[in-house]
Amino acid sequence: MRVLMVAPPGAGKGTQGAIIAAHFDVPHIATGDLLREHVARGTELGRAVKERLDRGELVPDEVVLEMVRAAMVTAKSNGGGYVLDGMPRNITQARALYQIALSLEMTANVALHLKAADDELIRRLLARAALEHRSDDTEDVIRRRLALYHEVTHPIVEWYEARGILVSVDAMRPVERVARQILTALEAMRPLIDFVPETARRSVDLTGLGVAFGET
Ligand code: AP5
Ligand code: MG
Repeated sequence: MRVLMVAPPGAGKGTQGAIIAAHFDVPHIATGDLLREHVARGTELGRAVKERLDRGELVPDEVVLEMVRAAMVTAKSNGGGYVLDGMPRNITQARALYQIALSLEMTANVALHLKAADDELIRRLLARAALEHRSDDTEDVIRRRLALYHEVTHPIVEWYEARGILVSVDAMRPVERVARQILTALEAMRPLIDFVPETARRSVDLTGLGVAFGET
C-alpha cells in the first residue's frame, strides 16, 4: 500500500499515518519528524532549517525532496509500501515527487485528504502545545502554518482528484472513527489497486458517510 497525505496542521497526519503504517506494515515517512530530528541532533541540515521550522515556513523544496527520495529508496528495498506524511506541500513538490516515485515504480495508490475546520485544528495544536514542546505550536505560528496550508498546499488536492487517486475523509471525528473509515476504504481498494489502469481511477469522497461509521 502506498499512501500520501494532504492535510492541514493538526488534522491527524501523524496520528493516522502511524495507524495506517502499522496496519499495512509499511514505513511511516514523516518529513516534519525527519527535519525535527536533524534540528535536535544539530546536524548541518538541522541548523540550516531550524529558523524556518520555528516560524512555520516551508523549508526549500530540494531539501525535502532529497530526504524523501532517500526514504523511498529504503522503502523500496523493504517491500515498496509507504505512508508519506507532510509531503507534498505545494504543486512543485507534488510534480517532483511523482517523477521520483515514477522512476522507482512506487507512485502513490492513494492521496488521502483529511478535512477539518481551522478552529478545531487550532484547538488541537494548542492542546498539544500544553503537553509537548514543538517550537511551532504557538498560536501565531499555528495560524501562519494554517494560512500557508490554505494558500499553497490545499490547491494540490485538485491535482490528485484529477488523477483519480484522492480519498477524502472527515477528520473532525474521534481518532478511532477516522481511522476505521480510512482503513475500511484502503482495505476495500487494496485488491483492485494493481489492476485499475491510470485512466480508470476514480477519486472518492467519504466525508458524508458519518452515519455508516457509527455517528448518531
Ligand atoms: P509537520 O511536522 O508536517 O507539521 P504540520 O503539517 O504543521 O502538522 P502537525 O504535525 O502539527 O499535525 P498532524 O497533521 O501531524 O496532526 P497530529 O496527528 O500530530 O511540518 C512541520 C514543519 O516542517 C513545517 O512547518 C515546515 O517548516 C517543515 N516541513 C515539513 N514538511 C515539509 C515539506 N514537504 N516542504 C517544506 N517544509 C516542510 O495531531 C495533532 C494533535 O491533535 C495531536 O495532539 C493529536 O493527538 C490530536 N488529534 C489528532 N487527531 C485527532 C482527532 N481526530 N480528534 C482529536 N484530536 C486529534
Ligand atoms: Mg505531524
